[in-house]
Amino acid sequence: MRITRLLRFSLVQPVAACLILTAGILLSIGTPGCNTKNEPAKAESVMIGEFASLTGNQATFGQSQHNGLKLAIDEINANGGVLGKKINLMTEDDQSKSEEAATVVQKLINRDNVVAIIGEVASSNTLAAAPICQNEKIPLLSPASTNPKVTEIGDYIFRVCYIDPFQGTANANFAYNTLHAKNVAVLKDNRNDYSVGLAKYFDSTFTALGGTIIDETTYSNGDKDFNAQLTSLKGHNPDAIFIPGYYTDINLIAIQARDLGITCTLFGGDGWDSPELIGGKGKEALENCYFTTHCSMDDTNATVQNFVKQFKAAYGTTPDAIAALGYDAGKIMIDAIRRANSVAPDAIRTQLAATKGFPGVTGNITIDPRRNATKPLVVLKISGAAFHYFSTIQP
Ligand code: PHE
Repeated sequence: MRITRLLRFSLVQPVAACLILTAGILLSIGTPGCNTKNEPAKAESVMIGEFASLTGNQATFGQSQHNGLKLAIDEINANGGVLGKKINLMTEDDQSKSEEAATVVQKLINRDNVVAIIGEVASSNTLAAAPICQNEKIPLLSPASTNPKVTEIGDYIFRVCYIDPFQGTANANFAYNTLHAKNVAVLKDNRNDYSVGLAKYFDSTFTALGGTIIDETTYSNGDKDFNAQLTSLKGHNPDAIFIPGYYTDINLIAIQARDLGITCTLFGGDGWDSPELIGGKGKEALENCYFTTHCSMDDTNATVQNFVKQFKAAYGTTPDAIAALGYDAGKIMIDAIRRANSVAPDAIRTQLAATKGFPGVTGNITIDPRRNATKPLVVLKISGAAFHYFSTIQP
């Protein structure tokens, strides 16, 4: 009897202890569970997508965009993020290919549930990805694509840079009035939306000014031998050659032009803007040549100098214009989210469209009704293996 009672007691005790323990565990799980319900925001982060040409023919474009953008996001996160959440930047490499740009952007939307996307530099890559963003109603902000068709895709597509009708006109005025060139030859990349567009806008203004396009010939991004085109251009004895292309090709074109004895000034647009433009023999081949871009790191403006300082501290190199545009794109995107007070893509879209007078590194940025930015352009001169500020052209 006594033994039974004792046995019962010793059995009851652990069961009770077990129940108390279980209740305790449930309670302790239950408490933060309650908080999670009240403050779902704290547990999550804001998912922003980025697509960039981190490898391939235009790798410095993507690397600069990414480094500039990451600097902006890191800075905002260090100051508490946005809407009380940290920003999570999901970056995808499109390998400088437009088909890949479309693939990775679809992945960012479907797999990562990003609320907005930043990219690309090359217009053809942005043009491949933009219809997807428009269909999915995910706002897309391009830092540097200047072809007008990009934002014409729809009301979810924005950019923080000027467009090529302006850049083409500026190059034509520069050639005619500053270089005093009357007969210009044009060499363009026929499968590149940016190059074809920029050549078209250049030609119409240059001709209207009274100049003559004495020869216009084409190549394809990635070509290695430009001797046939250059020999044809040389036969027309141009005063200058306009080459609206990307730095990888320009480097080879300039070297081969000099080898053929072409001594005239070569000039082009923002696609030249890469430290690799003047790699190898490109340094001598492009001496005293010019290109237009979005800003100069020689600018003494405090916003520019502060950015240069921060960028150098983070990466050990001087930024180019794309890095500055990537930084501005990041700041403007997060500013839109802050003003939207929401991470709903349509609310972000509305606030991107309402961006006014944002003090960017690349100038004051106002998004116009066509979702473009109207900004001045700078002309840089290549001399002594470096890019130097030459002039500013107002829109
Ligand atoms: N504007 C170019 C394009 O649309 C890209 C570019 C921008 C390249 C800025 C260099 C610097 O394709």
